[in-house]
Amino acid sequence: MKFDTILVFDFGGQYSHLIARRVREYNVYSEIIPCDVTPKEVDALQKKYNVKGIILSGGPSSVYSENAPKIDPRMLVLGIPVLGICYGHQLIAHISNGKVIVGKRREYGVARITIDKGIGVLKDLGSKEKVWMSHGDTVHELPEEYEILAHTENSPIAAFRHKKRAIYGLQWHPEVIHTENGMKMLRNFVFGVCNCKANWKTEKLIEKGIQEIKNVVGNKKAIMALSGGIDSSTASVLATKTLGKNLTAVFVDHGFMREGEPEFVKATFEDLGMNLILVKAQKRFLDKLKGIIDPEKKRKIIGGEFIRVFEEIAKNIGAEYLIQGTIYPDRIESGIRKHSDKIKSHHNVAGLPTKIEFKGIIEPLRDMYKDEVRKLAETLGLPQEIVWRQPFPGPGLAVRIIGEVTEEKAELVRRADKIVTEEIEKSELKERLWQYFAVLTDTKTTGVKGDSRAYGYTVAMRAVESKEAMTATFSKIPYSVLERISTRITNELPLITRVVYDITHKPPGTIEWE
Ligand code: XMP
Repeated sequence: MKFDTILVFDFGGQYSHLIARRVREYNVYSEIIPCDVTPKEVDALQKKYNVKGIILSGGPSSVYSENAPKIDPRMLVLGIPVLGICYGHQLIAHISNGKVIVGKRREYGVARITIDKGIGVLKDLGSKEKVWMSHGDTVHELPEEYEILAHTENSPIAAFRHKKRAIYGLQWHPEVIHTENGMKMLRNFVFGVCNCKANWKTEKLIEKGIQEIKNVVGNKKAIMALSGGIDSSTASVLATKTLGKNLTAVFVDHGFMREGEPEFVKATFEDLGMNLILVKAQKRFLDKLKGIIDPEKKRKIIGGEFIRVFEEIAKNIGAEYLIQGTIYPDRIESGIRKHSDKIKSHHNVAGLPTKIEFKGIIEPLRDMYKDEVRKLAETLGLPQEIVWRQPFPGPGLAVRIIGEVTEEKAELVRRADKIVTEEIEKSELKERLWQYFAVLTDTKTTGVKGDSRAYGYTVAMRAVESKEAMTATFSKIPYSVLERISTRITNELPLITRVVYDITHKPPGTIEWE
């Protein structure tokens, strides 16, 4: 069965993903594709999907900049409704011979629009609406066949439509929550303008994933790297359901796992009936990391060694296929948009070599977003601790130890991390935090323990609130909780004399320190 589908043409905007997710929230399938797709390619996509609408995303360019991304103007006469958002809005005007002027200053933040004509995408809204703007250029003049639907003080043409064809432009971002009635605007487009049926569900992707694993692997053996994170856990359970004992999940303990993690993963997945190999490879990784302080080198070494271990196991058990937990944002971010059918190895551990020799690589979650994976994980009966686990970097605690990694430091950061985790979980702050953890800095400071001078390590604590990890804010944790954590760390870990709290948002600071 083909699903009604909205294609999102990606002009590189930071919210392109959000548009597709919002559409999916209405149970209508949405796929992000590169903006330079040709009408012929769109036609070919009709074999897979019922393409009922096209949304042109925002993007960082100006229509006048050199190499500004454009669409083939024939897209506007295919008979498929088009909605341009921000850059997409300007681009429609530009290629239709309207006039876009380069703004002297950016309009950024919440703006009030006045709706001049509440039809189409703007049906059933108030005469004034609060919307989220983030643009430099503005549409200044429209060609004859278009009409204005809304304006703001700074943008005389904040929304428009074609008088005869289903083509709309919005200067603002309906997909962002700060646009109060943004979902209503998208719904107007998806259902009112494009006449989509809400006939798509995440579960449909499960059937597709299972079928694909069956078709490719057949009765041969497959292997997959299980980190215990939500994506690889869900993919492993799905693959086990399909392949049974022909699937071997491999958990590599590189020595930089959190306290109790290898045991937790082993017990959980064995309980779920999975064929699991736990490889203890701590010494191997530590040896390779001797003397290394550069974070990127650390990541590369860990990634490289990880794959060596993994390949050895695959060879031993005679696995010809690799299954991976790659999800949609991973694929988009690793730039495989144009050639998405090409076999390419993407792995959650940063720094892995890009090609691994397997007969085939299958990514059953490749069209899913994190929240969809969570739903799937719940349907598959994964325990809540896995479904709601905090993200953890592939290189593990090694990127939370600044400077050279040693066994002693790994143990220290592991124990500090455990204290942070226990206290946060006791304090009921957990629900609102995206991640909370300890970092062992390479700064030593003077302290006093008992009656004597102490000279020891500084631990930094990080706790952030975030939705998708693209941006994050440091959490304003109560001092009483910070105090308990600081006291426990310095009391229970004699080598640590100081605890500091990281008050940096992302951007500019990333979530992890390395
Ligand atoms: P940053 O530090 O870039 O991290 O703000 C964003 C999110 O990604 C996680 N992270 C990783 N996840 N492999 C992963 O699977 C990695 O190498 C890696 N590095 C960072 C990080 O914990 C945060 O949630």
